[in-house]
Amino acid sequence: MRTSLAQTCGVESPPVIDLAHGVDAVAEQIDVACRDTGFFFVVGHGVPAALLRRLDASAREFFALGEAEKSVIAMRHGGRAWRGWFPVGAELTSGRPDQKEGLYFGQERPPSDLPLHGPNLFPARPASMREAVLEYMRTVTELGQRVLSGMALALGLDRDWFAVHLTSEPLVLFRIFHYPPLSTIDNGWSVGEHTDYGLITILAQDTSGGLEVRGRDGWIDVPPIPDAFVVNLGDMLERMTGGRYKSTPHRVHNTSGVDRLSFPLFLDPAWDAEVLPVPVAGAGAPADVERWDGANVHE
Ligand code: OGA
Ligand code: NI
Repeated sequence: MRTSLAQTCGVESPPVIDLAHGVDAVAEQIDVACRDTGFFFVVGHGVPAALLRRLDASAREFFALGEAEKSVIAMRHGGRAWRGWFPVGAELTSGRPDQKEGLYFGQERPPSDLPLHGPNLFPARPASMREAVLEYMRTVTELGQRVLSGMALALGLDRDWFAVHLTSEPLVLFRIFHYPPLSTIDNGWSVGEHTDYGLITILAQDTSGGLEVRGRDGWIDVPPIPDAFVVNLGDMLERMTGGRYKSTPHRVHNTSGVDRLSFPLFLDPAWDAEVLPVPVAGAGAPADVERWDGANVHE
């Protein structure tokens, strides 16, 4: 197993937050995590483990199919709705091809002129994928709304602040990624370093590992924890909170020697929502505080 800087320096992985007793009980923990790396785990979330198992099984079955069969739902058939399958190497992060293939889904909608809206492209095989994806998106979107209500409390707002102002009709993008094992001679990345653009990302990962987040003193592992989801914050939330909550660079390097699957769900405001600063007393980092990636969130 690879030793990362995080392990050698003894930097801890992100905190595990238990939602079993409601978000009120953990608002302070959420606040601390969001101000630190903007990454945390949630357990006690109530999402049935069997649902993820079904989804995982259907995804493995799909990715094992031949190229010709997978191409039937290639992204070029999804148009502006941005749905379907893309092969390994087709997606770039910071200009370099990622060593991953994947499936893009969103809320099931009639055909539309709006970008990111429309019907999904589900494969004929396995037929079980359709129901697993739709149920997973519904269930994890609801979890995301709960996490946002915890963040609202953490920010000293009404618990339904995000729901009222931004996410009553959220835009949900859901992806399933398959990361083949990186070979030892290949120095590419499974996913290069990047930040997420939206509000929050809720990610399930299998047991392979390889996800890392940039902490103050180096890269920190975000290890697989049974039945836990990873939550991380996107640029929009960082900007809305004036830098109080962090959208942090992260990356994936699948050196496990086996196929890795991950399931990120991106919860964003309604397409036409007006995104305003969060009205938090004392929110905001002073303009001279340097962000870890050098970007200025006030710009
Ligand atoms: C992403 C991402 C991490 C992973 O999709 O934005 O960071 O483990 N994914 O797949
Ligand atoms: Ni990401």
